Amino acid sequence: MKFENLIMNVGYTDTGYSGIVQVVILRMTHMSMVNYSYLVVDHINNQAVIVDPAWDMRKVEQALENTETVLSGILLTHSHLDHIHLAKPLAEKYRCPIWMSNEEIAYSGYYAPRLEGINITPWSVGQIQIEPLFTPGHTPGSMCYLIGNSLFSGDTLFAEGCGLCFDVQGAYNMFESIEHLKKRITPDTLIFPGHSYGRAPGQKFSQVLKNNIYLQFKNKNDFTAYRLRKGQNKLNFFDFQ
Ligand SMILES: [Fe+2]
Repeated sequence: MKFENLIMNVGYTDTGYSGIVQVVILRMTHMSMVNYSYLVVDHINNQAVIVDPAWDMRKVEQALENTETVLSGILLTHSHLDHIHLAKPLAEKYRCPIWMSNEEIAYSGYYAPRLEGINITPWSVGQIQIEPLFTPGHTPGSMCYLIGNSLFSGDTLFAEGCGLCFDVQGAYNMFESIEHLKKRITPDTLIFPGHSYGRAPGQKFSQVLKNNIYLQFKNKNDFTAYRLRKGQNKLNFFDFQ
């Protein structure tokens, strides 16, 4: 199944802005990799930000053309190549900033001429109000971005699971990050992850809460034992859709 060329109309609920922000879902492929990048569009000011752009420049340009917007910024959830691949060329072409958490920059050593380190202070790009949620676990500096009622969750939260954790501390952090998300977002929040393992991007959080086994754990030790369990089929990691 391919979840491609979908456009979700996402209304703001808590900003006082009564217009519509569009989320354009971009399915990006490179050999066996499949990533989801997202163009978040403000039609009042004809500008957009993109989340985790990778692999297919032509698709990004086509989406900007179709929505008649100019790229105003690049949101990175973390530093892995399949999430940052197009950040530098896009930033140069559109002369726009790249945002990544200060912790992720320190951890990864990532550098780009237009890179701006961020903390959890919200900011706006036109009508697009961005609230970063610090969610370490998959990497020490992972961020999710809450925009209106949409959460861009990178490799922290998938519809079907959560991102890999590479050691016990990472799994502890992931448990706390998931608890943080449960408190901060509402059942109606739409989840736009970096990958799909079967379910389309844009699931309601209420559905994810029911279906995702990683959201069922009540304490960090049980969560960690399961997240780091032996015998996980490594191929599953690449079972992207
Ligand atoms: Fe990753």
